[in-house]
Amino acid sequence: MATYPTKRLRRLRYNSIVRDLVRETTLTKNDLIYPMFVIHGENIKHEIKSMPGVFQFSIENLIEECKELVQLGIKAIILFGIPEHKDEQGSDAYSESGIIQRAIRAIKAEVKDLLIITDVCLCEYTSHGHCGLLKGEEVLNDETVSLLVKEAISHAEAGADMIAPSDMMDGRIAEIRKGLDDKGFQNIPIMSYAVKYSSGYYGPFRDAADSAPAFGDRRSHQMDIANGLEAIREAESDIEEGADIIMVKPAGAYLDIIKAVKDKFQMPTAAYQVSGEYSMIKAAGKLDWIDEERVMIESLIAIKRAGADMILTYFAKDVAKFLDKQ
Ligand code: PBG
Ligand code: ZN
Repeated sequence: MATYPTKRLRRLRYNSIVRDLVRETTLTKNDLIYPMFVIHGENIKHEIKSMPGVFQFSIENLIEECKELVQLGIKAIILFGIPEHKDEQGSDAYSESGIIQRAIRAIKAEVKDLLIITDVCLCEYTSHGHCGLLKGEEVLNDETVSLLVKEAISHAEAGADMIAPSDMMDGRIAEIRKGLDDKGFQNIPIMSYAVKYSSGYYGPFRDAADSAPAFGDRRSHQMDIANGLEAIREAESDIEEGADIIMVKPAGAYLDIIKAVKDKFQMPTAAYQVSGEYSMIKAAGKLDWIDEERVMIESLIAIKRAGADMILTYFAKDVAKFLDKQ
């Protein structure tokens, strides 16, 4: 093995053409999934205060936005719904006339070539903001899973292309897979939020989705931020239960987890760069304390370098515009 002065690592950084040749990690439009918020009502395009550039759209405006995404070359979205009416069981989540079900049908009727992924959880639909049915202050597991199965099936019936359960109940992937298969949706993939931490980085999302819990927190089902080995057990369960894609969430502060999960299972792996990650970069960029575009790309390259095959990110449109300039 050569050593200095024969060996000079700077030779491959000599100019940008050489650097491009040896680059190990790339970011393309194919890697991006854009999260979107759809709200009941008409003519609404409401910017989320803590997430500049991210909006709640009523259905007709959502469609216009989807058309713009397709023009930008973004190929996949994940939908979150804010219903007109919330109740203890989160009924709108699995109603045929629910906000997501209507949004899916409308997009499918008017927009081609856009993959629709749906987030499956109850917290946007329950009056108490918890991810499942409550008994006192306890989030019930098995009873919640039955409702999540109904929610997943109703999304598929409306035309969803992929189902993404984000609730973190035990055993839900197996039940959802069985429910989908029984209804003839064998070909609809499941992207499981397999490794989802109980994170402070979700703060801005809860403004966007109006889903903050009325009391307590989500620590009885989402993972403890201090645990890494448990991530392997969570991912393993969901893979055994039939998940097609496994997700780690949040992304930037959990690069070690993304890498561990990818190395161990070699499965298609998604990472969710969550609302707080987006908002921090946006805020510092607006203050001119960092170069927003540069840090945006750096944050996403880091997530891919750790092993993610795809990234759910609120920066998707900004990235597409950036890539078009290159
Ligand atoms: C719903 C859900 C959440 C996010 C995605 N799906 C919120 C939560 O668990 O409280 C967070 C996404 C983000 O912060 O961008 N369970
Ligand atoms: Zn939830």
